[in-house]
Amino acid sequence: MSSRDGIYDVNPVVKEMVRFVLNLRQRVYVPAGRLAGLIDFPVPPNSSMRKTGSKTLRHYYVSGVACYMPIATMALQQGVRLRSKINILDFGCGVGRQLLHFTRNFPAPSYFACDVDHTLVDFIARSFPAVQSRVNKFDPPLPFDAESMDMIYSVSTFSHINPEHQGEWLRELYRVTRPGGFCFLTTEGWTAFEVLRGMFPSEAATAELRSKGILYKEYDFFQPVKNSKSLSPVLSTLVGIDKSYGATVMTPEFIRENWTRAGFEVAAIIEGIIDCRQDLIVLHKPA
Ligand SMILES: C[S@@+](CC[C@H](N)C(=O)[O-])C[C@H]1O[C@@H](n2cnc3c(N)ncnc32)[C@H](O)[C@@H]1O
Repeated sequence: MSSRDGIYDVNPVVKEMVRFVLNLRQRVYVPAGRLAGLIDFPVPPNSSMRKTGSKTLRHYYVSGVACYMPIATMALQQGVRLRSKINILDFGCGVGRQLLHFTRNFPAPSYFACDVDHTLVDFIARSFPAVQSRVNKFDPPLPFDAESMDMIYSVSTFSHINPEHQGEWLRELYRVTRPGGFCFLTTEGWTAFEVLRGMFPSEAATAELRSKGILYKEYDFFQPVKNSKSLSPVLSTLVGIDKSYGATVMTPEFIRENWTRAGFEVAAIIEGIIDCRQDLIVLHKPA
């Protein structure tokens, strides 16, 4: 136990009060924004938004566009028929930061979404009733049939998956993708590494990334939160996360060398294009 451990072990009633306060402000400004015609989309509870990296509604919306746009552009460029009745899965959907823009701009496909965190999937089920949403386990398999998806995208999920579990998740996405289909996965590469300097400050870390092509560091809060007896499903970022969770950084060379083992071809890697931070990896399952 470190001296910081106690800060996570807060009484559940206190945690619920924190959630209430976090969401209270939103209960005022969202209806006002709707009345003024400024908000015309489902708004996730503030506490859920914060779990998936957005402290403000503005960030949720704007960064959603900045993630969705390069994926949609690359999908169209690769010939994915986004204006047809194809099946699209959002893996690690969070509170639908990209799903919002996909479903609005390309309404024809059937959308599926999954996440390990049931509180987030509850929001998707309530707010996007046309999307078939599921809670999945931390380890494969996914609750979807083999070769059922024409396209899968996943934003900022592989950036947290422990390298030990990466291979099995890639093989699972390969199973669910139909032959000829595409996966669009985002990762942290050299651009994100600059932002993550606080987690990897040493020169040795840079040298390791250069030589091995991959770095992983478990979040400092992982063990204390997991050990906390008063884990709140509403506030915790670790709902459904059974094993080590942290930050994974990979170079394009590592991905080209290792990700093809699942059977995919690497069709493209565009560094730093996702919200000016993450790399976009375009994987193709040969027909
Ligand atoms: C940083 S959030 C990103 C959420 C969303 N894609 C977005 O960009 O807003 C990472 C998400 O991945 C989910 N996640 C992590 N491991 C997962 C797994 N093994 N299976 C499904 N979802 C997972 C987390 O619960 C969380 O919602």
